[in-house]
Amino acid sequence: MTKLKDKVCIITGGGSGIGLASARLFLDEGAKVVLFGRSAAKLEAAKAELGVEERVLTVSGDIAQAADRQALVATTVAHFGKIDVLHLNAGIAKAASIEQMTEEMYDEVLAANLKGPYFLIQAALPEMNDGGAIVFTGSISNQIGQHSLSAYAASKAGLRSLARTLSTELLPRKIRVNMVSPGVTQTPILDMPGLSAEVVQEMIASLAAQNPMKRIGQPEEIAKAALFLASDDSSYILGAEIIADGGFTQLQLT
Ligand SMILES: NC(=O)c1ccc[n+]([C@@H]2O[C@H](COP(=O)([O-])OP(=O)(O)OC[C@H]3O[C@@H](n4cnc5c(N)ncnc54)[C@H](OP(=O)(O)O)[C@@H]3O)[C@@H](O)[C@H]2O)c1
Repeated sequence: MTKLKDKVCIITGGGSGIGLASARLFLDEGAKVVLFGRSAAKLEAAKAELGVEERVLTVSGDIAQAADRQALVATTVAHFGKIDVLHLNAGIAKAASIEQMTEEMYDEVLAANLKGPYFLIQAALPEMNDGGAIVFTGSISNQIGQHSLSAYAASKAGLRSLARTLSTELLPRKIRVNMVSPGVTQTPILDMPGLSAEVVQEMIASLAAQNPMKRIGQPEEIAKAALFLASDDSSYILGAEIIADGGFTQLQLT
């Protein structure tokens, strides 16, 4: 298991859900991982769960804040030397129709999901090894219209575009930029504030019923695609998107 042997991989949102599943797989493949997120307690719990202390570094901070992005890069370099993979996975979903959307909510979503990743790439590039990889976690929301997800969907569509443009700009350095776009996946993001566990379960059951595979995704299924895009297994793939959604956006079953 050496697909990422000794590669230094920053995983934003690495303390839970898809990011934590990616961390587990990347470590299995020999990587050194840096988990980044706002909650230091969550990151420490994740590190304890992963159990390979010498190859896991945690850095707490907000991707929307320039100083935190700089600190993430500086701490990674001080600890592990260089950066090979940026798995830009952290994200927030705030649902509101256009009539209800406030500028504050819109700015919060775009700052965490699009502007933050963009400027983290800018901050990390001088410290990245040539031949590295950048992997966004997008969403099927960038492909289809879903009610009340306009800001979120626009942020993910922005990432989809960046995968293409930045792949062009980073071609001379052989840094490939790609995106994995999950459908509904069993992670803490589904535990929306204000909803009881029962309501969340009903919502998940309803979403599963609408899926061709009659289930929602598991974080490990998304992480496998992220590993593929982060490693040389995808050496001829750039500016691309892998959709991991059980066929939800691709099949029409009657
Ligand atoms: N689960 C799904 O159904 C689904 C579907 C499509 C796409 N996605 C995408 O998958 C990605 C991962 O989400 P998930 O489903 O694994 O949910 P999750 O467990 O809630 O993970 C999101 C992570 O992002 C971190 N984060 C949020 N805002 C941040 C910020 N401003 N700065 C730094 N870290 C921040 C969170 O940690 P802190 O709160 O500690 O900061 C958390 O660890 C997201 O980009 C999401 O949009 C998920």
